[in-house]
Amino acid sequence: TSVAVLYGGNSAEREVSLRSGDAIARGLEQAGFQVRLIDTKEADVFSLSSLALDCVFIALHGRGGEDGSVQGALEYIGLPYTGSDVLGSALSMDKNRTKQLWQGIGLPTADFRVVEKQSYNAADAAKIITAFGKVMVKPAHEGSSIGMAKASSAVELHAALSEAFKHDVSVLVEQWIDGPEYTVAILGDKALPPIKMETPNEFYDYQAKYQSTTTQYHCPCGLSDADEEELKQLALKAFKSTGAKVWGRVDVMRDANGQWQLLEVNTVPGMTETSLVPKAANVEGLSFVELVTEVVRLSME
Ligand code: DAL
Ligand code: MG
Repeated sequence: TSVAVLYGGNSAEREVSLRSGDAIARGLEQAGFQVRLIDTKEADVFSLSSLALDCVFIALHGRGGEDGSVQGALEYIGLPYTGSDVLGSALSMDKNRTKQLWQGIGLPTADFRVVEKQSYNAADAAKIITAFGKVMVKPAHEGSSIGMAKASSAVELHAALSEAFKHDVSVLVEQWIDGPEYTVAILGDKALPPIKMETPNEFYDYQAKYQSTTTQYHCPCGLSDADEEELKQLALKAFKSTGAKVWGRVDVMRDANGQWQLLEVNTVPGMTETSLVPKAANVEGLSFVELVTEVVRLSME
């Protein structure tokens, strides 16, 4: 079977994607696939139609790869690809619309405001702080915590928004959640064992994700069997609700009242050798090689 692994690209998560793509390509080679590694910063996706490929493994994170655009191009040229389709990718990439959807169908997610660069004025920051006290600011279409900041005053929120607007025209301002972050990997119709992350940083930021030696990962995550099952079922529902499929990762926090608060769906989660999905797969008894093989198999079904 001949597979092209798309990686790199132009997004802010390029560096992470280069690591994911490398690991995926090595895994697929070990599994016996014929592998081409293609950086979409250099190669045109439409040129793939001239190669004899059975499947395209999308290892691109962020905009221009995880957001439905590459998926659309591959649909157009008729090449099978891994993971979510155009709708599931685009919707999952948009944190604001994902949360609006969850609210609409009664899934738990922290209260929030959508702030658009075009209509924002500084008085909005004061109003939001009056309503929420402390908030987390997130560009609506970024990943890996890029452009994110905590704010607990109007001045801080204004500064955080100005920074976030450098990354995105649409920003999510979310009620601050006091509690640990968990993540649930999804493979096919199954939720893998949840992982609990612990960081000395203020939140699980870029440094904690990719550079820190002090971030702790717990899997098994320490929940009771009943709570763990509840978390897995919630993550599966949240994943399916955005139209995501085949594989991905749902990020969730547990607030001070013990209530789950859904954060987002990642349709192309990090796949470096130390990333979260491979960790969870491992606990489930799946090696990295078996994991990438399964993603391709499920995608081509
Ligand atoms: N956006 C990064 C790659 C992740 O969710 O793992
Ligand atoms: Mg993400």
